[in-house]
Order: sequence, then C-alpha cells, then structure tokens
Amino acid sequence: MNNRVIFFDTTLRDGEQSPGASMNAAEKLRLAMQLEKLGVDVLEAGFPAASKGDLEAVTRIAAKIKNMEIAALSRTEKNDIDLAWKALSHAAKPRIHIVIATSDLHMSAKLNMTRDEVLKEITEAVRYAKSMHDNIEFSAEDGSRSDRDFLCKVFEAAIESGATTVNLPDTVGYAVPNEFAELIKYVRTNTSNIHKAVLSVHCHNDLGLATANTLAAITAGARQVEVTINGIGERAGNTSLEEVVMAIHTRPNFFPVSTNINTEYIYPTSKLVTMITGIMVQPNKAVVGANAFAHEAGIHQDGVLKNPMTYEIMKPETVGLSSNKLVLGKHSGRHALRSRLKEMGYELSDDELKLVFNKFKELSDKKKQIEDEDLEAIVNEGILRITDVFCLEYLHVASGTTVLPMASVKLLINGKSIRGAAYGNGPIDAAFNAIASLINAKAELLRFSINSLTGGTDAQGEVTVRLKENGLIALGKGADPDIIVASAKAYINGLNRIEYLKTLPDSPVI
Ligand code: KIV
Ligand code: ZN
Repeated sequence: MNNRVIFFDTTLRDGEQSPGASMNAAEKLRLAMQLEKLGVDVLEAGFPAASKGDLEAVTRIAAKIKNMEIAALSRTEKNDIDLAWKALSHAAKPRIHIVIATSDLHMSAKLNMTRDEVLKEITEAVRYAKSMHDNIEFSAEDGSRSDRDFLCKVFEAAIESGATTVNLPDTVGYAVPNEFAELIKYVRTNTSNIHKAVLSVHCHNDLGLATANTLAAITAGARQVEVTINGIGERAGNTSLEEVVMAIHTRPNFFPVSTNINTEYIYPTSKLVTMITGIMVQPNKAVVGANAFAHEAGIHQDGVLKNPMTYEIMKPETVGLSSNKLVLGKHSGRHALRSRLKEMGYELSDDELKLVFNKFKELSDKKKQIEDEDLEAIVNEGILRITDVFCLEYLHVASGTTVLPMASVKLLINGKSIRGAAYGNGPIDAAFNAIASLINAKAELLRFSINSLTGGTDAQGEVTVRLKENGLIALGKGADPDIIVASAKAYINGLNRIEYLKTLPDSPVI
C-alpha cells in the first residue's frame, strides 16, 4: 500500500467558516504562499459560488501558486461547478471539489431528496466536472452518519463517474476513533472500485476527537487528510495540521507513513494564521500553544536542563520555534529589511517596501529590537489590508486617577478629515466613543482582547476586537507600542471590515 499521506489544507475555506475569521484576498494569498512553503499538497482556496470575494481570492491564488494543487469547493449545481472551474482557470494544478450530503437525516431534512436522487445528482455533477478536468474530489457530507452500504454505493458512483479522490467527512464531529477506523476499513473493503481513487478524511472537533479520528483513519488506510492550521474551522474547528504531522513525526512506529510537510514552518505558519484571522491559539494547545514547550515545574526544568528528552517528546526547533531570532533595529537599512522580509516569505514591490520601511523606522524609534512578529504586524497593517474607508490620523487621550477619561480624534473618512471628542469610562472607551460618534457607527463590541506581540516592556500591544452590526461579524486588529492607539486601530480596522462585508453578496450556507 502507498504510504504517502496527502495533506489537504482547508484553512482558507473551512477555517474561514470560523465565526468572524473572514480574510481578504490579499491575506489569503499571503497565507497560500506560506502553506506552499510548509509543503501542503492540496490547498482548498475557497468556495467560488459563495461570494464575489471567494471567487476573486480563489482566482488570485490559482494564478499565483505553482507547486500546490489548488482546490475550489462546489455544490452539485452546474453553476457552482462552472464558477469553481472559472476560478481555477489559471491554476497550474487545479482540483474541483464537489460536495453533497449523504446521511438520511441531511438528505431528508436539508436536501429533501431521496437516496436515488442523490446518487443521480452525484453521477451527473462528477461527470460534468470531469468533462472539464481530470482531477476531481467528491465529498459525502455527514459521511460518518450515513448508512454504510449507501456510502459505499455513493463512492462507487463518484469513482465510476470520474472522481480521483473520495472524501469521508465527520461533518459534525460525532465519530470516535475505533468506530471511524472501522468505517474506513468497511469502505475500503466494500467499495468495489476504491483502488482507483485516494480515500480521504475530513474531521471536525466537536468532541475534541478530530486529530484522534484522523490518525485512526490513517492507520485504517486513508491516504489524504483534510486539516487546518491551528485547527480553526466551523464550530469547534477542524483537525489541526500540526497535531497530525507531529504525531506522525514523533511516533513513526505507529504511523509508518511519509508526508511532504516541512515541519520547521509549522510555528511561523501558525503565527501568521493568528495574525491574519485574529483567532488566538489557546496557551496549552498542542504543538503551537505558547506553553507547548514551556516547563514550569522545578523538577521538569531540572530534568530538561540535564537532558531535554526527559520531558520533551519533540524539539522546539523541529516545529520552527527557535530561540536564536534575527532581530532588526534602528540602524538596519532597507536592504536588511528586504532580505528579512524575503526570508519570511514576503516579496514586496518597491512601493510596498517603501511603505513598510517607513513604518519600520517609526517603530524602531519607539522599540529597540524589531522582531518577526513586529514585521508581520507592519505588513499586515500596511499591505494586506483592504482599501480602508476610515483611517486614523490623530488620537489624543487624557486619563488617570483624577480626570474623567477623554479622547479627541481625527479621522480621514473617504479622503476628508473630521475631528471629534468624547468621554468614556476609561481611555479605550473614550477613544471608541469618539470614533463611533464621528462615523455614526452602530457596531456592537462583542469581544476585546490584548496580547503582547513580543517580550519586553517596549513590546507592541496587539489588540483584537470582534464587532457585530446587523448580523455581520468582523474582527479588527491593531498593533502599537501604545495600547490605546492599538485599540483605536483595531476598532477602526473592524469597522472597515464591516464596510467591506457590506459590499459582498450573501453567502449560501452548506
Ligand atoms: O465538514 C464537511 O462536511 C465539509 C465538506 C464540504 C467536506 O466541510
Ligand atoms: Zn468541514
């Protein structure tokens, strides 16, 4: 049996379905380039029929990325398949990914279709996609709760019609490892033409079992795994790439399979996903959490100093967590900046470099050492953002033990400068009130969090806000050594993202 496991990353599609995690096209392209460096085999770039934004993002990624397969999701409707193929038209290695639900519950309650109708729909859709291209994946949504024999029939029909990969999703995270492994074996034994396709799995983490189920499926013979960075995704998320990769890497006796993943890019990729989506990684998260390699108990520290293997089953360097970071400072020139950015995966135009260099200089006046996280924040704020409707020009805040906090602010709104001032409970409240009064913002603040980008008292504070207006939810992010300024930037970024979401047509829910 082939022992190579294909990594199919869906951070940009299922990952983006995490509430508030929407990314713009430039951010998606940046992440796609990083995933290519990481060694992902197939990248699901989006669902082109979902929105104009998705269509644009998949098109841009497909045109740029040459070494990974680029997949576009589609329902069985012809229009969806046409849009997926249109978005993939410039891809070096395109894949059309077709999905329909196959559990009795989903077919009756959601699709209002019989088993025979679903089988016919699958045959027609896969044949139609196959008439355009050879590389077709078919997914049986809610596969783990589907009737086993019907599921085998479904896969047989999909492969017969031309599917080269068949994917078995545990859509609602209901399966447990032994049961899921048995299902994989059952499908492999009872689908007559399964040897003509790659069998894939796609697990959700509702019971915290996504990684365990995915590993059990590999042991049972699945050879493609669908994953996301940091495990982000719909509800409790998807299987996290880093956990599966490091389990394979650390326990080769149990998983005698190979992958194409360059493990030393795991940590930088995880950081980039956090930076772009604003979804923080819990400190105790396996492999990429802040505490994953931190030893607190004296007895552990003592053991690790004597021999790291006493308490470390993986080396931090293996996942790209190095203590010897290259830092830039006040005296670093444009050349050093360009070359560091290039090593980090950013190929900037001269104009973009100029903008980043100016911001870098501004920051290095306030902060001695500029680390990768600072540069990521600068690029994220300066280059990857959508065209902003609202820009912060000026902020002054008065606060302390004896004054009523007050903020005065100047914003550039569609090219016009406007000033305002407001009081608040604290300086951040005052700043938000002043901004909201100027643009008549109705957005509700659902969440506010602050995090230090690097160590040191001069570190930049990175603020993430989650805003809601008329059912639209957006994250906003801002970084600055002054946390009130970082908060104002994050609030304005969130308001800009809401403006951007207002321009997109409604997304269908699958
Ligand atoms: O969870 C799911 O079933 C999916 C499919 C589109 C593969 O995301
Ligand atoms: Zn999913």
